[in-house]
Amino acid sequence: MKTQVLDKHQTDVAAEILKNGGVVGIPTETVYGLAADALNGEAVAKIFKAKGRPADNPLIVHIAELSDIEAFGLVRELPESAIKLAKEFWPGPLTMIMKRTDVIPREVSAGLDTVAIRLPSHPLAREIIKLAGTPLAAPSANLSGSPSPTTARHVLNDMDGKIDAVLDGGQSEVGVESTVITLAGETPRLLRPGGITVEQLREVLGEVEVDDAVLHRLADGAEAASPGMKYKHYAPRADVILLKCSDEDFINYINKHASDGVCALCCDEDLFLLKTKTVSLGRRGDYLTHARHLFDCLRRIDGNKTIHTVYSRLPSTEGVGLAVYNRLIRAAGFEVKEL
Ligand code: TXA
Ligand code: MG
Repeated sequence: MKTQVLDKHQTDVAAEILKNGGVVGIPTETVYGLAADALNGEAVAKIFKAKGRPADNPLIVHIAELSDIEAFGLVRELPESAIKLAKEFWPGPLTMIMKRTDVIPREVSAGLDTVAIRLPSHPLAREIIKLAGTPLAAPSANLSGSPSPTTARHVLNDMDGKIDAVLDGGQSEVGVESTVITLAGETPRLLRPGGITVEQLREVLGEVEVDDAVLHRLADGAEAASPGMKYKHYAPRADVILLKCSDEDFINYINKHASDGVCALCCDEDLFLLKTKTVSLGRRGDYLTHARHLFDCLRRIDGNKTIHTVYSRLPSTEGVGLAVYNRLIRAAGFEVKEL
């Protein structure tokens, strides 16, 4: 299959492919998605095949308007909490899990009785959903296990020849996947941190639990509230080692271990102090920028075949820092080295 590269004026071409049951890489404000008609099980199955995604990992359904939830009959009931969150954070990087109806194909829900719904803020994403005339199921457009794509080039690196097209909408603004919250239980619970912080969610809803899997490795045999959390994810080929230490110790430790195969994932302020290869997330403490650059940094490290070890600071868990922490702790296999 030849993968077409579409520009931002070709949303109609993308929508036509989607209407006909094809798969298209689309830009969103978080990361690029691999989209298909969410109400067409056969089309959705093609996403799993292209990504090599385990069949028990459900997909997010993307809509263009809040009213699409009722218009397409996606959920059994729209909880009050969902309406409050939608008012505050939609369109935007927030996914809400609710009890689904039978309109949702088995391929999308992966056997769960819930569905994850998101209304993206990226104008091209919304336009494509509107033109396609159907909600779009879309996971991140990477090969299963790899860092998520934040440019059309990243999508092509993973998916060329495997999907019908990718629409180039420039670099994703947020850079990490959406915040996922489930509203299907008694108390709202954060399943994946992202651009909307848990602090922001609590301001609107009051109590919000944080699922154990956000910060920790799942215990053997434990069931994941979000199936995606049990899989290895976001990992570059090289070993990622997270260091918990002072800034001074961070620099000294890396310089002591400097070699051709070593790279530091660091901040701009470290660049002139380090005697290794470096990839910078941005200015120290600027968590929004770190989130935006994270996956591109991991992919750049992957691009250098000599690198076998990556050292990084253990990120902060404050604000959007938690989203970066959640991705890097997985990339590091949950190991932290305290100096
Ligand atoms: O920002 C995003 O959310 C991007 C863009 C494309 O919208 N999409 C994305 O999709 O990150 P994906 O499939 O890579 O991640 C979705 C996560 C997975 O961990 C999955 O297990 C979880 O959401 N999920 C989806 N439906 C669920 C459900 N019904 N219950 C629990 N977890 C669910
Ligand atoms: Mg993903």
